[in-house]
Amino acid sequence: VFEPLSHKTIEWVGGLDGHVQLVDQTLLPGEYRVMTCEDLDTLWEAIRNLRVRGAPAIGVATAYGVVLGTRQASTPQSFFEKLHSACEYLAECRPTAVNLFWALDRMRRVAEANRDARVDDLKAAMLKAAQAIRDEDAATCRAIGAAGESLIRDGDAVLTHCNAGGLATAEYGTALAVMYAAHERGRRFRVYADETRPLLQGARLTAWELAQAGVPVTVICDNMAGFLMKQGKVNLVITGADRIARNGDTANKIGTYSLAVLAKAHGVPFFVAAPLSTIDMKLSDGSGIPIEERSRDEVSKGFGRVTVPDGVACYNPAFDVTPADLIAGIVTEKGLIRPVTEARLREIFDNGSCKANKNG
Ligand code: MRU
Repeated sequence: VFEPLSHKTIEWVGGLDGHVQLVDQTLLPGEYRVMTCEDLDTLWEAIRNLRVRGAPAIGVATAYGVVLGTRQASTPQSFFEKLHSACEYLAECRPTAVNLFWALDRMRRVAEANRDARVDDLKAAMLKAAQAIRDEDAATCRAIGAAGESLIRDGDAVLTHCNAGGLATAEYGTALAVMYAAHERGRRFRVYADETRPLLQGARLTAWELAQAGVPVTVICDNMAGFLMKQGKVNLVITGADRIARNGDTANKIGTYSLAVLAKAHGVPFFVAAPLSTIDMKLSDGSGIPIEERSRDEVSKGFGRVTVPDGVACYNPAFDVTPADLIAGIVTEKGLIRPVTEARLREIFDNGSCKANKNG
């Protein structure tokens, strides 16, 4: 099996008394360090500060957070109290990626299904459920790759934004899964990675991953994409997603919307790749997606250098919403949704295995 990354982005090590290990993504590409989380507070901080990030990886981390938050319980009653407070705490961590809330729902439902069990069995059920979420995500990403690889033809140049790779998932990625799968099948193409201001997930993480996998990659600043398209240098755009409303409106890293508008203006097809766990069927359109706002410092002194005068305001929304009509197709583990309409989303969602975000 092709392994684009030799590490595990996030995993549980050992039994119920074990711990979470994750690659600290804030340090890449300069330093590769694996950190250990033995308690919920450490894991919460890791999610909040983007040590682990990307919607599916956030879902996996959240599930492990529930395990860490409940494993000290000594009675079923204290288990359910700890479960409640761990879920409330984790729900405050990051608002946009629906995978966080999807994972919480799923963990809660497993606990409810075991309501009459002994406390040790409840705790074991939590670890088993979290491991299943990780393992399913890995399999889902492979299926997304297989469903989307034919979008990339020999000689293409593909533009992507942020990081929707192995680092953003249990392994293999979503948007990058499509690229890895095409690469695996011997297709030759180039990737342009938007650097992705302000936190540079494209330059630091996407370029790092693709280079390791032997996929030719060129980093560009976000504001260069239009110039490249104008020159005919981009054949298609593929990004990930943090939350997709049931009409197909898609939240992803800030700057994705601008890219979709540019793609439309230049006749370049714009695709999204995401698991069904990223589709929020409760939301009729993108206007209901909560957009995370992050600190001024990320803009004014990212990576240590002051780049904005003291006292000058900065605005730092971390995500934007791309309307469905700008999206040529959504690649999921169940196939390609094309055209992007509520009816097509419903169809694939109802035939899929993921029901957690379903309305009613
Ligand atoms: O703030 P981040 O780095 O968590 O944002 C990540 C993205 O926007 C990704 O594109 C998205 O989560 C998809 S990851 C497969």
